[in-house]
Amino acid sequence: MTDARPPAGTRLCDLADLPDPGAKGFQFRAGDALFHGFIVRADDQVRGWVDQCPHAGLPLAFAPDRYLTTAGDMILCGSHGALFRHDGLCIGGPCAGQSLIPWAVKVEDQTVFVA
Ligand code: FES
Repeated sequence: MTDARPPAGTRLCDLADLPDPGAKGFQFRAGDALFHGFIVRADDQVRGWVDQCPHAGLPLAFAPDRYLTTAGDMILCGSHGALFRHDGLCIGGPCAGQSLIPWAVKVEDQTVFVA
């Protein structure tokens, strides 16, 4: 199967399009393969994650870009309510103690790229 992950250097968005706290999801297709990832800006840091919950492997957002709790202090899986800290560790719900899979991203010149 083809790997649909975008290569390093792929531009994701302007930093200004991502509130702090805020999150944005991305999908990339290569043939039949799909890659879902999302980025989270919080506390002046931008981190990327594979959009796959460690519980049942589902994408986390129940609506486009809705990856965070209302307060923006945690990442929320909309399927069964798992709560993740901004370092990816699940601290509540059915996969407590497990972590999201990192997706390396970087910010350069006020733009977010795949690292
Ligand atoms: S798939 Fe995320 S909590 Fe079940």
